[in-house]
Amino acid sequence: MKVLTAAAAVQAWARDLRAAGRTIGLIPTLGALHEGHLSLVRAARAQNDGVVVSIFVNPTQFGPREDLDRYPRDLEGDCAKLAAASVDLVWAPPVAEVYPAGYQTYIRVEEIEGRLDGASRPGHFRGVATVCSKLFHVCLPDRAYFGQKDAAQTAVIRRLVQDLNFPLEVIVCPIVREPDGLAMSSRNAYLAPDERQAARILYRALEAARELYESGERSATVVCQKLVETIASEPRARLDYAAVVDPDTLLPVERVTGPTLVAVAARVGVTRLIDNVVLGE
Ligand code: PAJ
Repeated sequence: MKVLTAAAAVQAWARDLRAAGRTIGLIPTLGALHEGHLSLVRAARAQNDGVVVSIFVNPTQFGPREDLDRYPRDLEGDCAKLAAASVDLVWAPPVAEVYPAGYQTYIRVEEIEGRLDGASRPGHFRGVATVCSKLFHVCLPDRAYFGQKDAAQTAVIRRLVQDLNFPLEVIVCPIVREPDGLAMSSRNAYLAPDERQAARILYRALEAARELYESGERSATVVCQKLVETIASEPRARLDYAAVVDPDTLLPVERVTGPTLVAVAARVGVTRLIDNVVLGE
């Protein structure tokens, strides 16, 4: 497995592969890899000739009061996991390689970027759309893999790829969970033991919403209220948003009829957690 830092070297690798008629799968990550990330790697490995994983804690997607400085970093451990998963190339650039002095070009998915996590984290999706555009240009993937865990991010990326004619397929993979239901996340490492217990409330709230839906409830307001009430029952959790929305536009729906994204974000201590289920599929 190659580990490269220079964009030009990664692009040369990608061009050679494509010139030989081979396909490339890209998995963009912030590193601190867990089973959620590795599930994307396995999907890419099964579907492509070449697999490239980017590891880059992208500063433009973190707000001024967010966890950029303390975000977990473990390049060595990550590379060991990726080598074991038969990845061909890791691109782990320093910040100055992605955003050199004088950098000033940003991509905005104008409407979607302000919804769900974009409403709580201003500028977040501008950073995500910008770095993913750069990753696509450097890695030249036929397929790019994202997790359903970050449902709003997948809506931003799907819109970006469609709007800017990126010649690639966006593949969205299912959420990988801990045995008690908590969605895997690099940020779970921040949770103290009592917070880790409290964090289960997100998945419980989504399960309660699903049960309501399965018992015949179709009112988005009622389903949303269930999320709010369930999160409120855990004193250590503070709700950020509870949403019942269209998975593509992220706009609220009135009735849960077609595929509907039911999403929650909550803080447990200082840690912000997100999770979702899709109903009506
Ligand atoms: P990161 O949080 O490292 O996640 C990388 C990818 O792994 C994302 O597509 C995310 O949805 C997916 N992922 C994370 N946890 C998952 C889980 N429990 N199950 C399934 N997939 C999971 O998302 C980012 O990085 C960044 O915003 C990035 C796209 C790399 C741009 O900087």
